[in-house]
Amino acid sequence: MYAMFLLKPPIDFDEAAYLAAYPEIAQAKADRIFDTGWQHFSVYGWREGRWRGLKPLANPHNGLPVPSPHLRYRIHGAVEPMDLCRVGNFNANLISEVIRTRMGSTENLRVLDFGCGCGNVSSALAFMNPGLTVYGTDIDEEAIRWCRDNIGSVVHSVANSALPPLPFEANFFDFIYCVSVFTHLPEDMQFAWLDELKRVLKPGGYAWATFHGENHVQGNFAQYREQWENRGFVYDTRFPTEGLPEFYQTTLHHPRYIEREWSKHLHVVEIKKMACGQGDFAHDTALLHKAD
Ligand SMILES: C[S@@+](CC[C@H](N)C(=O)[O-])C[C@H]1O[C@@H](n2cnc3c(N)ncnc32)[C@H](O)[C@@H]1O
Repeated sequence: MYAMFLLKPPIDFDEAAYLAAYPEIAQAKADRIFDTGWQHFSVYGWREGRWRGLKPLANPHNGLPVPSPHLRYRIHGAVEPMDLCRVGNFNANLISEVIRTRMGSTENLRVLDFGCGCGNVSSALAFMNPGLTVYGTDIDEEAIRWCRDNIGSVVHSVANSALPPLPFEANFFDFIYCVSVFTHLPEDMQFAWLDELKRVLKPGGYAWATFHGENHVQGNFAQYREQWENRGFVYDTRFPTEGLPEFYQTTLHHPRYIEREWSKHLHVVEIKKMACGQGDFAHDTALLHKAD
């Protein structure tokens, strides 16, 4: 998992400063237990919170700070920073286009990133669309603290509980998006949040969410094909995420299930296969509408 990361340290990792800050690691290097301080950091140091010797990285797309490695790992399953920035920028471009198409412009709109994590998409979206007022919410209080401290100039970030409500009045947002959030929620929690998103969405507003569709029903998840085909919803508890609650697992949705079940909460306008992301593990997307 770390091979790429080991080969290619980000330019902001300061080898000499890291070894000076942690003499025991310098000694381990001298004893040939590690080849470099970078090798130690990429396997152990980031988990142990050894941040000395690291300069904050800047996102090459917008100059904003890049989250620390364990926060990157939590939302992305990898610590490599530049790929995360690329994905955030890609998704923000995609969402900008959906907003422009559906809302007619990206001016004077309130937008919510529900399940924003450490603001990888919300910060990129706000940076590329100064006419949007972007809010982010998440259960991950550490990630929200990071957002407030580091990207507070472009995104308003608030922690929420695992279950509704959100701290916003009804009909507050013009547009809501959720990147890889419903991909992790148990079924009842999913319905509770669809109702809550409907509550805070303005009449006439749109919500857009990604889900794991057919291309995910393979490899580790191939055994669920029948359940996915027949029941339409799978909640697989084999892969918990360190730092997030136990309910946070992996879900798979059949588009028929989205049409049938999500439309009980919001009107399902459009489902697109593999529309969010690049490569084999792109997510399907659902565009939802709240009637006027
Ligand atoms: C895979 S991460 C994606 C983060 C972000 N959307 C992005 O694309 O970078 C899923 C996020 O959903 C958040 N989440 C899970 N359950 C939630 C809930 N009930 N309310 C708010 N956020 C939740 C997690 O804490 C995590 O940050």
